[in-house]
Amino acid sequence: MKMWRCTVCGFVYEGDQPPQACPKCGAPAEKFELISEEQSKIIERARRTNQLHSDLLAALAKVEAVADAGIEDNLDPGCLRTFTKAKEVARLVRQFSVAEIQIHVNKGKWG
Ligand SMILES: [Fe+2]
Repeated sequence: MKMWRCTVCGFVYEGDQPPQACPKCGAPAEKFELISEEQSKIIERARRTNQLHSDLLAALAKVEAVADAGIEDNLDPGCLRTFTKAKEVARLVRQFSVAEIQIHVNKGKWG
């Protein structure tokens, strides 16, 4: 399946021909450029990894919410330390994941 990228908004369309108009921004077909087969394979390969990053970010958001509840609950110093550390680690790993996604976007491992 060929991939086409809208040069106006970055939307990636899959099909033998570009769409009549970009589904996202409405730009006409001539605003689409064909993504090379090599680049299409890179995008395909990275989709699972990008989905895993998305799943990881969702899981980390849950960890942060639980940590916030634990910090607010504040039963004793050990609990407070544990939940505070969990929040700190979740935020750190979230930034790792966000940075990795940014690298993927910059290298075209996205679409
Ligand atoms: Fe577009």
